[in-house]
Amino acid sequence: MTLQGFGLGLRPQHFPEILGDDPNAADGVDWFEIISENFIGVGGPPLHNMMAVRERFPMVMHGVSLSIGSTDPLDGNYLKGLKELADLVEPELISDHLCWTGVHGLNMHDLLPLPLTEESAEHVATRVMRVQDVLGRRFMLENTSTYVTFEEDEMTEWEFLSEICRRADCDILLDVNNIYVSGFNHGFSMEAYLDGVPTDRVKQIHLAGHEHNGDYIVDTHDEPVPDYVLDLYAKAVKRFGHVPTMIERDANIPPFAELVRELKGVRLIAERELDMVPA
Ligand SMILES: [Fe+2]
Repeated sequence: MTLQGFGLGLRPQHFPEILGDDPNAADGVDWFEIISENFIGVGGPPLHNMMAVRERFPMVMHGVSLSIGSTDPLDGNYLKGLKELADLVEPELISDHLCWTGVHGLNMHDLLPLPLTEESAEHVATRVMRVQDVLGRRFMLENTSTYVTFEEDEMTEWEFLSEICRRADCDILLDVNNIYVSGFNHGFSMEAYLDGVPTDRVKQIHLAGHEHNGDYIVDTHDEPVPDYVLDLYAKAVKRFGHVPTMIERDANIPPFAELVRELKGVRLIAERELDMVPA
């Protein structure tokens, strides 16, 4: 089965509505994304509730601590846990971020930027191949929001991302909000980013809100997706066609019905751009 439609990040606050008595509570939500780390090695009610949602909806897995760009060896225990969770959940897609989160065994719990060089592209691609070998399936890398660049940079971020995916033969989770945040912070063309990413590798899209401070943006995921990010999403739909798309909300989490409403607006934009007949 191929993933279709529009999704939401699964948040524990919303379990009662999703699993409650109202059969229409999640109308318009085609699938959910879980944060892998929330369920690796976890049992009890959190796992039980997540699997109850899984019985009713397709699911994708999204990780935050693979640290694919670090010079530390890949964490074998983490990969083993990720594979066990994937065997249980049977997700449509699995992803993590194109970043590093620490070195010398330290986890900074932050998605840190990489130098955009041939050397780091080769380093990351080699590690992605190993991850795909362990998982026995394709893997997606997500572009992150960044706040600094390196003097050593040899290419644009979209060239870097595309080159890694070509070398490792992996796919892309394209975060349109992150393109906006990084494009605004660094002054690159957001449209050039979209045009520079290979259409056949983009398998999922993220949308989110952020904190706009006038001359810089911080990626906070605590607000609705702003209109100017939705405008960029419309351009992405034109280029990539229908790609499974979801809203990420990680803080200041509203009632479930509010996110469902917001997601319906996203669907309308995609339908408009694709000239699709509304369902
Ligand atoms: Fe994202």
